[in-house]
Amino acid sequence: MKILVTGARGKVGRAVIDRLHAAGHTVRAASAAPAGLTVPAGVEVAELALDRPETFAAALDGVRQVFLYPEPAGIHELVAAAEAAGVEHVVLLSSSSVLGEDAANDPLARHSLLVEQALAASALTCTLLRPDAFASNALGWARFIGGSMPVRLAYPDAQTAPIHPEDIADIAVAALTGRGLTGKSLTLTGAESLSFREQLAVLADTLGREIPVEHITRAEAEQEMRRHLPAPMVTSLLDLWEAADRHGPAAVADTTETLLGRPARPFRQWARENAAAFTAGH
Ligand SMILES: NC(=O)c1ccc[n+]([C@@H]2O[C@H](COP(=O)([O-])OP(=O)(O)OC[C@H]3O[C@@H](n4cnc5c(N)ncnc54)[C@H](OP(=O)(O)O)[C@@H]3O)[C@@H](O)[C@H]2O)c1
Repeated sequence: MKILVTGARGKVGRAVIDRLHAAGHTVRAASAAPAGLTVPAGVEVAELALDRPETFAAALDGVRQVFLYPEPAGIHELVAAAEAAGVEHVVLLSSSSVLGEDAANDPLARHSLLVEQALAASALTCTLLRPDAFASNALGWARFIGGSMPVRLAYPDAQTAPIHPEDIADIAVAALTGRGLTGKSLTLTGAESLSFREQLAVLADTLGREIPVEHITRAEAEQEMRRHLPAPMVTSLLDLWEAADRHGPAAVADTTETLLGRPARPFRQWARENAAAFTAGH
């Protein structure tokens, strides 16, 4: 039974590949840019760009299970190619944002929602993983922390329940290799609700030095974020953080504990494992 894992360079995708391979499964690692991709010996590599349907047939040949990153451009062609190849089950890396009231009109949520809807209309069985914010989003602060600059935030007290990408990978592997999670939609969070300020305090404690936080206006944040992200995405993210700031503690799901019989990895663990990314010159 061959399992195709998309997003081979992604934090979750790579962890899924390593776990499946270590457990003895036959894995094909798919990347939009496979050149230079390093995978464990014995793992096949294929080119699969989720927005380029011409790459689908070869990557899906002989595959029965797929771990899928969401990309609405090309999803209908991907579903058709998967059905034609004999794929049986898809585990989707969706997002908890699809549960928002206005998900259909929110660019971030819509990205995952359209993929969920295309899968629901297909003959494939699915497991939908809907994580809250990733702990690894903290890497966005790395160049400021590494450069001893303050971290500038419009909503420093916005809370999320950041999930360790390896917890998502553990559940993805359970969904790919067993039948118990087929047809399920799983909301996934980390172990605790933490504000951005609290995440930075954990990082400061881990690194053994102060990390100054500068509270900036929404307009200032908007201007900075627009240098790297499209305007609708910036609005969507700032709206999300503004709402999180207003709502207080984020909901913590017990999915990891219920499914895996152990608590979700704490943010502190992620910080310890990734401390090197926050040092100067990294
Ligand atoms: N970050 C969060 O807080 C969060 C929360 C909930 C859900 N999610 C979902 O998780 C996904 C990834 O999260 P992330 O942003 O933190 O990144 P990430 O895990 O680092 O993954 C990014 C990877 O996605 C793959 N990818 C992107 N576009 C692709 C395409 N057109 N074709 C094939 N592969 C493509 C790339 O893998 P290759 O380079 O190997 O092709 C890339 O390395 C997103 O789709 C997001 O909706 C994220």
